[in-house]
Amino acid sequence: MTRRSCAIYGVGIVCASLLIIGIGLVVTQVFQTLIHNRLKKEITLTEGSRVFETWKNPPPPVFMQYFFFNVTNPDDFLVGAKPIVSQVGPYTYREYRPKENVTFVDNGTRVSAYQPKTFVFLPERSVGDPDYDMITTINIPAVAVMNKVKDSFWKSSMVSIWMNSLHVGMLMTRSVNELLWGFKDPLLSRIHPMNPEIDEYFGLMYKKNGSNDGEFVYHTGEEDFMNYGRVATFKGESLWTSEQSNMINGTDGSAFHPLLSKTERLYIFSPDLCRSIFMEFEKDVKVKGLPAYRFTPPRDVLASKEENPANEGFCVSPKECLGTGLLKVSVCRKGAPVVMSFPHFYLGDEKYSNAIEGLDPVREHHQTYLDLNPTTGVPIRASKRAQINILINRISGFPKTKFLNETIFPVMFINETVVIDDVSAAKLHKLLLTAMLVSNSPLVLVGLGAILLPVFIGLIMAVTTLPDVHSSVPISFSMRRHRRIENTVELKCNGILLLKERMDQNTAWLL
Ligand SMILES: *[C@@H]1O[C@H](CO)[C@@H](O)[C@H](O)[C@H]1NC(C)=O
Ligand SMILES: *[C@@H]1O[C@H](CO)[C@@H](O)[C@H](O)[C@H]1NC(C)=O
Ligand SMILES: *[C@@H]1O[C@H](CO)[C@@H](O)[C@H](O)[C@H]1NC(C)=O
Ligand SMILES: *[C@@H]1O[C@H](CO)[C@@H](O)[C@H](O)[C@H]1NC(C)=O
Ligand SMILES: *[C@@H]1O[C@H](CO)[C@@H](O)[C@H](O)[C@H]1NC(C)=O
Ligand SMILES: *[C@@H]1O[C@H](CO)[C@@H](O)[C@H](O)[C@H]1NC(C)=O
Repeated sequence: MTRRSCAIYGVGIVCASLLIIGIGLVVTQVFQTLIHNRLKKEITLTEGSRVFETWKNPPPPVFMQYFFFNVTNPDDFLVGAKPIVSQVGPYTYREYRPKENVTFVDNGTRVSAYQPKTFVFLPERSVGDPDYDMITTINIPAVAVMNKVKDSFWKSSMVSIWMNSLHVGMLMTRSVNELLWGFKDPLLSRIHPMNPEIDEYFGLMYKKNGSNDGEFVYHTGEEDFMNYGRVATFKGESLWTSEQSNMINGTDGSAFHPLLSKTERLYIFSPDLCRSIFMEFEKDVKVKGLPAYRFTPPRDVLASKEENPANEGFCVSPKECLGTGLLKVSVCRKGAPVVMSFPHFYLGDEKYSNAIEGLDPVREHHQTYLDLNPTTGVPIRASKRAQINILINRISGFPKTKFLNETIFPVMFINETVVIDDVSAAKLHKLLLTAMLVSNSPLVLVGLGAILLPVFIGLIMAVTTLPDVHSSVPISFSMRRHRRIENTVELKCNGILLLKERMDQNTAWLL
């Protein structure tokens, strides 16, 4: 009888303590905090850390696609008609970008690295042969030279004469390979002997195969997990007109701190743009079964200075502020009138896409985005899209330009994409599953308590209906906690040991 009552009350006590401990752990999120602290510690750029090797040599393949705008009415355009372009592409390259010369500096709180990029052509993913496909587009070297000499009457007359004798016009027709990887330009070759710092060759990606943008120094994230992967210094040129515009904010786009929130702004420093841009949360997505937050640059990033005064510093000079959706980067392109935008002037003022026949901005195809796993900050999928344009207008001293209205002329856009590889995805799955199980383990206690509760009630009811339940033997429970001996708790009922439990650090404080 005594034993039976003890068992019944024992069940009650076990059930109650399971519920209390379980609910206590759930409410205080002890295990979740433990996991988060572990992530903050593990996701750092230190020798032997979980992420260091993949940071140095990212396994997911990166594909770079180039699309060109082929002018299909060159003769009409040169006498003042609206330009008509047709998009040609993609020409796809596999991009290899290992980090090299990785060295720790400043007592291991920062790490310095170079990132040479190599491009290998993939014919099966491309529309044609870049050696033979001819593109008609703006003659970028000529426009750059004309802009450079326009203030000097003598120089511009000279260049004008050369252009005529060399049959150099406002447009050029070149193969895709020449446009990308460089060709010997007749006008530049003419100028080169007198001005040796001007290269004879021109190409949008000239000398970019196998070369790096300069030395990057990154924060390792050891002192503060929020700084993981953030660019500390970059040895490149940047010459904007305000301190704020010159600031190097954010990571290089390949690594983000763990425990992302939907409300934060993510900054990314881009050497192509010579500036930092930011991205904001757009929506939840799932890639290869992995949960991710999609971050994307909002319209504000490239808004005109009227719409977003913070962008004023990116005007090359007060007179040369462009409208929304454009960024003039001539300061870091040796003064060439290069303007960056999103493809087809997506997020830009409509007047720019309306000025060219054949453009059609579509969010799905032209948006830049990053899908990041919020727990670890790992990029699951990303797509960087950017367009190179040339600002053309009438230039005094050059009769060839007299029919041109000021136009932002699109030349090419890129679609650089990366999707997590299956091996990394499987590893991340496992990590997320472990984190989820550990954070939710107190729910198991609550569940057990919830299962025992009806058992306990059932037992009580069964006992009270029996006639000889009310035993005259008083029931006494005792609970003792031996702090010194292994931190155990004993539960006795009338001297019968019901439970002896070892407590660990995390549950001990509850009692
Ligand atoms: C570009 O347009 C011209 C006509 O202006 C055409 O002959 C040429 O084949 C086009 N190039 C490609 C790669 O489609
Ligand atoms: C150039 O500008 C003039 C005057 O603003 C306009 O009449 C003409 O249609 C424009 N031409 C093109 C090709 O947009
Ligand atoms: C990287 O290190 C190698 C060997 O120490 C050196 O030859 C090379 O110039 C370095 N690269 C850069 C970009 O500094
Ligand atoms: C590196 O650590 C040493 C000793 O801990 C300290 O004296 C020195 O100032 C540190 N240097 C830097 C750059 O933090
Ligand atoms: C870039 O360089 C690599 C190795 O030097 C070479 O295999 C590849 O074909 C080059 N790519 C282009 C587009 O020239
Ligand atoms: C960019 O590349 C991705 C992956 O290769 C592809 O799915 C997407 O359609 C491409 N975007 C454009 C505009 O072609």
